[in-house]
Amino acid sequence: MKTILIANPKGGSGKTTLSTNVAGYLASRGHRVAMLDLDRQQSATQWLAGRPRHLPRIELTQSEEAKDLSVEWLVIDSPAGLHGKNLEHDLKLVHMVIVPIAPSAFDIQASRDFLEVLHQEKIVRKGKIFVGVVGMRMDPRTRAALTLEQFLQGLDVPILAYLREAQAYVNAAFEGKTLFDLPHSAAERELEQWTYLQNWLEQAE
Ligand SMILES: Nc1ncnc2c1ncn2[C@@H]1O[C@H](COP(=O)(O)OP(=O)(O)OP(=O)(O)O)[C@@H](O)[C@H]1O
Ligand SMILES: [Mg+2]
Repeated sequence: MKTILIANPKGGSGKTTLSTNVAGYLASRGHRVAMLDLDRQQSATQWLAGRPRHLPRIELTQSEEAKDLSVEWLVIDSPAGLHGKNLEHDLKLVHMVIVPIAPSAFDIQASRDFLEVLHQEKIVRKGKIFVGVVGMRMDPRTRAALTLEQFLQGLDVPILAYLREAQAYVNAAFEGKTLFDLPHSAAERELEQWTYLQNWLEQAE
């Protein structure tokens, strides 16, 4: 089983949007997928409760000891403010961390601080965990994207995708869906932006 933690201590950076869509992508590829919702707000849990039954199945697990689950992928949505002992504990469970970053100077600065904290964790330094960044609600060729790239210089963390602000994410979430459950024509432009991230995930398959 491969485990992905979606994390950024900054609130509203796009963790739940990204984690539900990553889980939806993997499920759409025919993988057995579970989500673990560490956030007390339980947004991912509520989203899953509204997921139509005919769509590719995503299980919900309450336990971090998901090793017993017969799933190939576990996607973990985490709360704002994740740090310290909780972060250390969660890192022991995972193979990959994806950090979604919102397009503001404050978000980018705070996220760089978080990436530095991650980098200082022994398990990350030893190369046992892959870390990547996703620019959320961010278009390439904008000031935010350029600033993010400058901030990441010297950190050796890849940018896996820029996912632009799109109603498709918002509308899909209302219905327990992801981009990967919509008719292709409804999300064509958005899906294009996922290619590199998909390849990154597939390398780990
Ligand atoms: N690419 C996108 N296009 C449009 N809206 C987006 C996109 N990404 C995120 N959002 C919106 O931004 C808001 C914050 O996203 P989300 O809830 O995923 O963040 P979060 O990091 O999980 O927040 P919290 O820290 O509260 O858990 C939501 O209203 C979500 O719909
Ligand atoms: Mg959330």
